[in-house]
Amino acid sequence: MEIKKIAVLGAGQMGNGIAHVCAQAGYEVKMRDIEQKFLDKGLAAITKNLERGLKKGRITQEEIDAILGRIEPVLDLGDSVKDADLVIEAIPEIVKLKLETWGEVDKTAPEHAILASNTSSISITQMAAVTNRPEKFIGMHFFNPVPVMGLVEIIKGQATSDETVKVIEDVSAKIGKETVLVNEAPGFAVNRLLVPALNEAVFVIQEGIATVEDMDKAIKLGLNWPMGPLTLMDFVGLDTALYISDYFVDEFKDSKYRAPALLRKMVRAGWLGRKSGRGFYDYSGDEPKPIRF
Ligand code: CAA
Repeated sequence: MEIKKIAVLGAGQMGNGIAHVCAQAGYEVKMRDIEQKFLDKGLAAITKNLERGLKKGRITQEEIDAILGRIEPVLDLGDSVKDADLVIEAIPEIVKLKLETWGEVDKTAPEHAILASNTSSISITQMAAVTNRPEKFIGMHFFNPVPVMGLVEIIKGQATSDETVKVIEDVSAKIGKETVLVNEAPGFAVNRLLVPALNEAVFVIQEGIATVEDMDKAIKLGLNWPMGPLTLMDFVGLDTALYISDYFVDEFKDSKYRAPALLRKMVRAGWLGRKSGRGFYDYSGDEPKPIRF
């Protein structure tokens, strides 16, 4: 089966990144969001990220125009998926919203279309079960920033067919990503490790063991991570990390995944990281300033 048209649901950080790499690989993309302002913001982010390559002479203005020309912003869900060969969903991590959306998509998307979720933790099998094509349902987990990160974590739900896996491996290769194939489990493989690791860094702050900047410096230089764990927590979003931690505790019934009280308190205060201007760092100035706890 050849994929030509891709619908990307959600124009946020992940959705616009996915639309960007798909269009860059030559696919016709419809990017859907619920309000024009989200579509405008998503398109502006794609343009800005493509222009990074322009300054470095890696891409021409004509190529940028052609890529942008392959992305059609769409508000209506039915319109976005009605002629898609592949639907990639990157909407907020709210189970009810995902299930409702997939139920709708299943009614309108062509019978042959493959349905892929970019969820970072929610059950692929549970989402597949609200559609009439669970064998064509799969997890396609991208990493932020999508144009830069080299991996797509492919998740096989209980009913996902080998043929669906093969198509998604081929699409991932075409958009320049390496893949790993994992069986469904909460957090799959990457977030199973990442989220407890980031939480542990927050426990270090909560217990007064190190300052924010020292914890980040320690892990950046001591373990050669590109970003320290608290910078990465701000990058991922504190609300996302908290959501995944709570989901792990619910699913595994194991308190080892519990979120630090400090993380919950910060989310309640609206300190969500970079996107809200404050998390473990204050982003209001020219340079991020570490917060003292
Ligand atoms: N779009 C396109 N290109 C981008 C970009 C973006 N949004 N952000 C950065 N880049 C490019 C830059 O233009 C630069 O390109 P060149 O090397 O060609 O010049 C390159 O990426 C490196 O960027 P910078 O020099 O500005 O900064 P850096 O070296 O610090 O790298 C980073 C930035 C790539 C984000 C790096 O810090 C990094 O890899 N951080 C870790 C990111 C990470 O762990 N992501 C996963 C988060 S977890 C997740 O997403 C899943 C989940 O479910 C929670």
